[in-house]
Order: sequence, then C-alpha cells, then structure tokens
Amino acid sequence: MKTLKGFREFYPDPVPSKDAWSFGMRNWIFQSWKATARKYGFLEYDGPPLEPLDLYTRKSGDEIVGQLYNFVDKGDREVALRPEMTPTFARMVSQASTQYKKPMKWFSIPQLFRYERNQRGRLREHFQLNADIVGESSLAADAELIAFLIDVLRDLGLSHNEFRVKLSSRSAWIQFYQKHHGQPDKQYQFFQAVDKMDRLPEDIVTQQFEDVGIPLHLVKEFISSAQPVGDLIEVVNHLSHRGLSDYIQIDYQIIRGLAYYTGIVFEAFDCAGKFRAIAGGGRYDKLIHLLSDSKVDLPALGFGMGDVVLTELLIELQKAPNLEIQADVFFAIEDESFRPQSLAHIQWFRDKGHSVHFPLTPTKPDKQFKLASELNARCLVYIDPLNPHDLTFKILTTRQKLTGPRELISTLL
Ligand code: HAM
Repeated sequence: MKTLKGFREFYPDPVPSKDAWSFGMRNWIFQSWKATARKYGFLEYDGPPLEPLDLYTRKSGDEIVGQLYNFVDKGDREVALRPEMTPTFARMVSQASTQYKKPMKWFSIPQLFRYERNQRGRLREHFQLNADIVGESSLAADAELIAFLIDVLRDLGLSHNEFRVKLSSRSAWIQFYQKHHGQPDKQYQFFQAVDKMDRLPEDIVTQQFEDVGIPLHLVKEFISSAQPVGDLIEVVNHLSHRGLSDYIQIDYQIIRGLAYYTGIVFEAFDCAGKFRAIAGGGRYDKLIHLLSDSKVDLPALGFGMGDVVLTELLIELQKAPNLEIQADVFFAIEDESFRPQSLAHIQWFRDKGHSVHFPLTPTKPDKQFKLASELNARCLVYIDPLNPHDLTFKILTTRQKLTGPRELISTLL
C-alpha cells in the first residue's frame, strides 16, 4: 500500500532512503519559525483543517478554487480541506477583533491541502508558516512583515547570496492599468496574465493582454523599469534602515495569483532560480470586510512560507542540521539479577530529565555495547557487581570511568 499521490510520510532519522522526509528536519524548521515569530512578537493560533467550501469560493480566486480538495460530507455539506489559512484567519479576526489590541500579529503552522498537479516543490499537502498583521494601514507594517520573512530565512542559515525577496505592488499595477486604459471589469484577468506571462508562449501572452486592452510591450517596459514607485519607496527605505537592502529586489512581475491582495505583494526565491517560490504574501485590506459580511473593516497583510521548497533548498545548500539522535545514557544490565535495581535507577534518571536507553530483554554485554554506540549514547551507566551500592559511569568516546552515587553521576550528564 502506498501513500496517496502528493502526500508525505515523515520518518525518524536516519531516514530509510534519500527521498524520505525527515521528521527531525520538519521539527527543526518549525522550531526556527517559532523562535523568529517570538522575536517579532507574533502570537500563535490555529483553526479547523476542514471548512465550508464557500469560505474559499467567495474570495480566494480561481487558482485556489481549481485546486480545492473538496467533497460532500455525510451530512450533505459541501466541505473542503483548507488549501490556505488566510480565509480562516480573516474569519477568526472578524469574530474576535474587538478582544485584541491592534495591530494584531498572529502566526500559525497549518497543514494545507491542494489538489495540484504533482511537480517539484508542489505537493498535495504541505505545512505553511502563516504570519499576518491586522489593524495597521501604515507601510511600516509591510516593512515589518517583510523584515520578519527575511529573518525567518536568515535564522535557518540562508544568506543574501542564497535568497531574495522580490517586491511588487498591486496598487502600482492598478495605476498602470488605469493610465493605459485597461478594461475596468478585467483587472483581475490582467493580474493573472502578468502572474503567468513567463510560463506561457509569447503568442498566448500577447493575446491575453490584448483581451484586457493593454499592449504587451507596455507591460514589459514597466517590468523592466524595476524601480520602486509609490508605496514601495517607503517600504524599501524602511528595510534599508534595518540593513536589509541586500535581501530585497523590485520585481513587478510578482503580482500573486490570489485574488484578495490590494497593495504591496512579494515572493521569496532562491538566488540560483532553481526552485519554485519559497514564500509569498502581501496586503489584503478588503478581505476581512468581505468575510465578515461588512461588519468588520480592518486592514491586513501577511505571508505564507511552505516547508516543501524550503526543505529542498536547505538540503541542496547543505544547510540541513545534523539530525543524528543522541541519548544521554545507555544503562547496561550485564547481570540480570540487578534488573530490578537498574529499573529503579533508570526511572530516577528519567525523572531528572535525562534521556535513557536500556536493553528491554536479557542481552549479551558486547551487543549492549554495540547498541549504545549505534544510539550515539554519550555514556554507559551500570551496576558493577563488585560495588552494587554505587553506579559506574563511563564516557563512551574517551572511556573515562568513575564510580559513585547516582546524584553525582546525574551532574555529569
Ligand atoms: P501561496 O503563494 O499560495 O500563498 O502559498 C505560499 C507558499 O506556500 C508558497 O510560496 C509555497 O512555498 C507554499 N506552497 C503553496 N502551495 C504549495 C504546494 N502545493 N506544495 C508545497 N508548497 C506549497 C498563500 O497561501 C497565502 N494564503 C499566503 C498569505 C498569508 N497571504 C497573506 N497571508
């Protein structure tokens, strides 16, 4: 029996094959995400993995709707596994915003599901760090969020030679669209054409821009200008005051596939251009208003960073940590008559917080020694029959030995 296509199993290290996903690596990434979120003052939240279908059909846009993992449940309800966190987040905020001081800075690490075509960096489930700020319309919030994204990647060991955050602005594109008299009802269609223009043949791209009333050459000219305009000037300045200029670049081709973005948008990529986007986000000032049936009106912005591309990139750049397990103690039981006493000591060491392995069944001494080194145990502890009231402690690498009460040995672990 195999897993469903696009779904993963996470193994303990050392993983059984080079393609297997490591639970240790996943944990290491999550811990780093959480540590950076704490530095920036983001609070953690979560929501349901299964949602009413119309949460997504209302405002996420066709791209996500086409990828929904949806079905009718036993109560005849149209439901979907969450493909993204933003609609759940916007609903939670609209229900409880009066209870929290603004700006609200929240983060979450949901598992998300998208019925995507299988390709490198895109699976049918992934974990995604979501970080969002609500209740602040100043561009200082956009800069803070982008700085957070940069620091998340720096904390994982990536430098400005390895990743770049590409900044763009939907408001700049809207101004461009109006200036060149694009058809008013086809603006989102225009955004989608910009989003996909480097992935489609030139004749199709030309046609798509003609359909919305904008010649392709004007679009290309705007993209190649690559100069910050409007809102972007302030955000770029904020980031340069923090010494983060090397991590950003203006790229108007970034426009984001999702429908709800309204202002600054951005995506993070590896500098070598080998992988799909590591992260993406932007400002979405109208979504909370829409999902609260116009009851709550709060500006918001955020981003999502998946674990799939990130893990592949960290492995490629050899930034993955050494995930070898290390036990503190291997408690050897050479003489079975000492098993009851040994069990009491093992429990005592674990109560003190040490990681202890021991042979569950009678095992030959040389096999126990082999097991201890396979488990990467730092030391061996055992009852020496010549001195059964104390414990003998041996450091496995240096073979240094000491005999004494367990209280003394505990201080050496
Ligand atoms: P998104 O661009 O759809 O944005 O996804 C964000 C990131 O999630 C991507 O850059 C990628 O790393 C990862 N990702 C997306 N789909 C997959 C997949 N099928 N397999 C593996 N990784 C994937 C959003 O989801 C927005 N809701 C982000 C956001 C939060 N905007 C505001 N707040």
